[in-house]
Formats: sequence, structure tokens, C-alpha cells
Amino acid sequence: MDSIRICGEVPLYGRLKVQGSKNAALPILAATVLIPGVSILHNCPRIEDVHLMCKLLVSVGCCVKWEGNTLIVDASEITEAGGQRPLEKGAGQPGREACRMPAEYVEKMRSSVIFMGAMLGRTGEISLKYPGGCVIGKRPIDLHLMAMEQLGVETAQTEEGVTARVKRLRGGHIRFPIRSVGATENSILAAACAEGTTILEHTALEPEIHALCEFLRSAGAEITGEETGRIRIDGREKLHGCEYSIPTDRIVTGTYLLACMAAGGEILLEGACRKEQQALLGVLERMGAEAEARPEGILCHRNRLLLSPGEVVTEVYPGYPTDLQSPMLAVMAIARGSSGMTETIFENRFRVAEELNRMGAGICVEGRRAYVPGSAALHGEVVRARELRGGAALVVAGLAAQGETIVSGRQFIDRGYEDIVRDLRALGADISYEWEEDNSKGDGQSSV
Ligand code: EPZ
Repeated sequence: MDSIRICGEVPLYGRLKVQGSKNAALPILAATVLIPGVSILHNCPRIEDVHLMCKLLVSVGCCVKWEGNTLIVDASEITEAGGQRPLEKGAGQPGREACRMPAEYVEKMRSSVIFMGAMLGRTGEISLKYPGGCVIGKRPIDLHLMAMEQLGVETAQTEEGVTARVKRLRGGHIRFPIRSVGATENSILAAACAEGTTILEHTALEPEIHALCEFLRSAGAEITGEETGRIRIDGREKLHGCEYSIPTDRIVTGTYLLACMAAGGEILLEGACRKEQQALLGVLERMGAEAEARPEGILCHRNRLLLSPGEVVTEVYPGYPTDLQSPMLAVMAIARGSSGMTETIFENRFRVAEELNRMGAGICVEGRRAYVPGSAALHGEVVRARELRGGAALVVAGLAAQGETIVSGRQFIDRGYEDIVRDLRALGADISYEWEEDNSKGDGQSSV
């Protein structure tokens, strides 16, 4: 397994342009299926999950081409997955085999469920295996299915997965019991070309929802209200090709702000949006760090000992983001004084504490709360990433640790970070990729 080597206690200095947003790009890529034409996406991150989404697009007949960080998707023709049979709208005739998304991709990435709304909107049918849960939680899709059914979709579930079909999507009034990012996105995608008006209530407020709506509006969709939690969508017969620039990734931005807290120093993150970072910046201010908005992004520095922020609770946006919970644990570990982190979104998102404790963090997890004693002198270790944001947290901890840290499981980190080594190196970190050479040639380690 490829690894990342970090030599800790090297302060970060410099400026960096942050990559495009994974969690904005993925639903927008699914949305291109709704458009019988060419979509041009600028500032698209070249990450594992986007490559997987591109494979899914190609599997249903789309043509996909990269030009640097611009992704060009031509969805003029949609065919059955892997086949040649063109799928025209309303193909969801009973008795016909629904378009089956390739299982090998769906199982690897949970957000593939986001294809449901778009494929139903374009072809009236989709069949997909349940997207894999992951180490952070069960990741059910009951709210997605509830919403589809309220738009006239017939769903049939088996042990393996779900088939959904509809002759013609019709507008409906859907009220979500909890704010779900994915279920909100799927509903917007299904309603964009439905007959009549759809009202969605109690929707997720994450910035990625706004980005999806902006993209769809540029393709001719009629959508309003996404920043209020009550969305109105007036279905359109057809959408058209468009051009859109993916916004900066707010979670990668937050990860690098926390990297600066861990290593010390002063960095400017270009393209970072202060409004999207309010919750994190509020916690950092409590810790004694300083961050200020600049025309080009966010400048932050940490030149003295960090103080404990006290209690931090993850919440839906605009609250403290669950995706920055693990990287914050690493920083709490070195802050002076004890802290507490409560995870309210996912049921199993403290797995990384085990590995952080091998570096000396002393974290104690009980149910949904982690107690962090603080004032730890972290030491370098060989540790293992098991999922995306936990892996990023181990890199952040390595920046603060005495000595060398090796983080294996780089492939998890590559799912969301275009090139975490390139980025942190550009800010002065002593960090590189490592890979195990074939043992038959000795166990030399090479680093790039
Ligand atoms: C999105 O996941 C993000 N992924 C996640 O980022 C992020 O952590 C999460 O939103 C919360 O902000 C993408 O955007 C690709 P949810 P999603 O539906 O849509 C429960 C990362 O690291 N729920 O808002 O799956 C669910 O179990 C990833 O980039 C149901 O019960 O999140 C969870 O407890 C990790 N039934 C809560 O809602 C459903 O049908 C929030 O999930 C759907 C969700």
C-alpha cells in the first residue's frame, strides 16, 4: 500500500490555491446525465471519487474528456450500462430490464446513489446495488427512496439493491425528517425535469447544494430557495449544455487550516471562502489562533501555544462540519487543556482515535463523544488510514509530531485530496510519498 512520510515540527509558510470541491463536483457530474448535450466543468479536482464518477458516466454512454482541471462531459446519448441500447426518456416500461449501474463502481463509492435522480430524470429507470456503507457509518438511503416515491417513482428493493422506474416524474411536496445532503441533491436532480412543481422542505443547507442548483440553473433549470431550506423546482422539459466552475473545496481548506494549527506558521489559502469556514474559524479563535479574510482567500497563523477550545459538536451546515471532526481531534491533542468532541452526524466516526493514540494523543472515546486530554507531545509512528478524513487527520498529526510519521493507506486520502503531499510541500512541509518496492528486490523504500 502506498504511504505518506512526514517529518514533523516544521512550520508551514506560503500560499496555496485550494483544489475544487469533491462534494460539489460529484452531484454536478451526476447532473450532467440530465443534459442531452455538452457540459464543461472548470476547476474540477482530479481525485479518485471523480475518476470513479467518470467511469459511471462512460458506462451509460457519456463521453468524458479532461483538459487540465477542466472536465468535458457529452451526455447527448445515454445507453444502457455497458451496452449499446439507447435509453430514451420514459424507457422505464414495466418488464424491461432497468439500466443497471456497474456494481464494481457503485460499491466503491457511496455517492454513486446520486445517479438515481439524474438517471430517472433522463431515462425513467435505474437499477443499482446498495452503495457500500463505510467505516464511518451505515449510510442508509431510505430518505432518497422516500423522496423518489413521492415524485411517482416505483422502487423495488432486494437484498442486493434497488430498481427504480417511472414513466414520467411528476412534481411533489417532500418534507425531509432530517437534513440529508445526498437525499436533497437526488430530489433536486429528479425534480429538475419532472412534470409540474416540486417543493422540498427541511433540505440540507451545505454550500454544495447551492453549487448544484447554480449549475442546473446555468443549464436552464428553474430552482429557487436552496439557501433557505425550502426549495422550489419548476420542472423543465429539457435542459441544455452549459459551462460551470466548481467552487473551492471547503473541507480541504479546513484541513489545511488545521495543518497550520498543527505545524505552526502562517499560510494564505487562495480561493477559500470565509463564510463557509465560520464554524471552524470560531473554534480556532477560541484556541488562540488568528485567521482573517483577504480578497484572495483566508490568511491564518499560529505562532504560540494553542489553547483547548472546550467542547466542539459536529452539526449540519452551518454548524461545525463532521468532515473536519477527525483533523480537529489531531489538533485538540496538542492544545493546552482538555477538550471534548461530540459527533452527531455519523455513528462511527472516531476510528482514527486508535491510530492517533499510537502517536500519544491519549483520546478516550465513549459512544458519540471523544475526550481529548490535550498537551500531548505527539511522536512519529507508522499508522494506517482506514477512510478519507481519518487519513487526513493522521497527516495533520504527523506535522505536529516529533520525528517521522508514515501514514499507510494513501488511496483513502486520494479519494478527496488531489495531491496532499504536493500541497503541503508547497507550504514548506517535509513530506513525501513512499511506496513499498517489490520485496524480491529487497525492502528498499523509495520516496518521490
Ligand atoms: C455528504 O454525505 C458528504 N458526501 C459527506 O462527506 C458528509 O460527511 C455528509 O454529506 C454530511 O455533511 C458527499 O457529499 C459526497 P447525509 P451524505 O445524507 O449525503 C443519514 C466526505 O468525507 N441518512 O447528509 O451521505 C446518514 O446516515 C464525505 O467528503 C439517513 O438516515 O450525508 C447520516 O447519519 C463523508 N438516510 C445523516 O443522515 C438517508 O437516506 C447525514 O447524511 C440518507 C442519510
